[in-house]
Amino acid sequence: MVSEPTTVTITGAGGQIGYALLFRIAAGGMLGSDRPVRLRLLEIPQGLRAAEGAALELQDCAFPLLHSVEVTDDPVVAFDGCSIGMLVGARPRGPGMERADLLAANAGIFGPQGAAISRSAANEVRVVVVGNPANTNALIAAASAHDVPADRFTALTRLDHNRAVGQLAEVLDTSAGAVRDVAIWGNHSASQFPDVAHATVRAQPSASGQGVPVVQALAHKLGGQDAAAAWLDDVFIPRVAKRGAEIIEVRGSSSVASAANAAIEHVRDEQLGTGEGWTSAAVVSRGEYGVPEGLVCSFPVISDGTGYRVVEGLALDARARRLVDASVSELSAERETVRGLGFV
Ligand code: NAD
Ligand code: LMR
Repeated sequence: MVSEPTTVTITGAGGQIGYALLFRIAAGGMLGSDRPVRLRLLEIPQGLRAAEGAALELQDCAFPLLHSVEVTDDPVVAFDGCSIGMLVGARPRGPGMERADLLAANAGIFGPQGAAISRSAANEVRVVVVGNPANTNALIAAASAHDVPADRFTALTRLDHNRAVGQLAEVLDTSAGAVRDVAIWGNHSASQFPDVAHATVRAQPSASGQGVPVVQALAHKLGGQDAAAAWLDDVFIPRVAKRGAEIIEVRGSSSVASAANAAIEHVRDEQLGTGEGWTSAAVVSRGEYGVPEGLVCSFPVISDGTGYRVVEGLALDARARRLVDASVSELSAERETVRGLGFV
């Protein structure tokens, strides 16, 4: 039986990540091959032609699962009946712009979009914020969506999670699918803490059993526990945390395909379930691990298809606690800034 189309709203759909997202979603790569989609593309007036062009190309793909595509610059129209919102469009940092200016400029985007979601989205709406600063943009959108439970709003740290897995797979000379239970804590920024304390690696992706702790596999590979600890502190953590900047330096512009891929995996796992192991996503804190309530903070999470839940009860040693706290402090400072500006 063919189900009713799911309305997916993508903001900034005329931009780079939008272009990398649309065709995979329309082909069934996010919600599966049995769920038709209705796409709503939101742009600002300057971006409308690019989004319209993408809509023409979507039509030319004749995707069987694509019910319709609508392009608009009106958030209330874009979020009408929306079940899944992917908020990609954001104001980039301009020359001479301070962090507070950036937060304020984005609050002017994510506040009204949150209000439009509250006004016109479907009851079951779930939202992922991709546009930076993603965690605090999600906080603002949630605070402005008065009739939507705040926990429907999440921010993307799946890209950081995947980057961490990719780095481990490379050094351990295995495939990414063999690495499980990495965690990203904190902000989608250089302050984040990519944590391997609970991660395991299997001989191959499909292998059964517990796998070997990543820290043990690293010690074996790198010549002892001290060498593994030094690699984690001096190479792994900064490489993952600053990978966005590395991509900008090498490519000349920020990550696109990997970001779109991560956004698709974030929504897919939230909607269809995480299966074995966990992933990472920034979700509204309910005070887990001492993170102040209401902050949109990255945690290890699982989903059974009804939304992400934080994996609780993991031990954090003193070093991990310090690293988590440092990133959470940054999130608290961002919240204070937007509070001071009257946005949350
Ligand atoms: P881009 O400049 O190519 O596209 C952004 C699009 O958003 C533009 O077409 C612009 O017209 C549109 N836009 C701006 N304001 C809008 C608004 N109010 N409503 C609707 N559309 C609006 O940028 P991109 O490469 O697609 O990146 C988009 C965002 O994603 C950036 O903020 C980038 O920093 C962020 N990003 C996040 C991650 C992550 O992991 N969280 C990773 C990569 C990039
Ligand atoms: C990334 O992690 O690649 C991006 O968030 C970087 C950026 O500043 O857009």
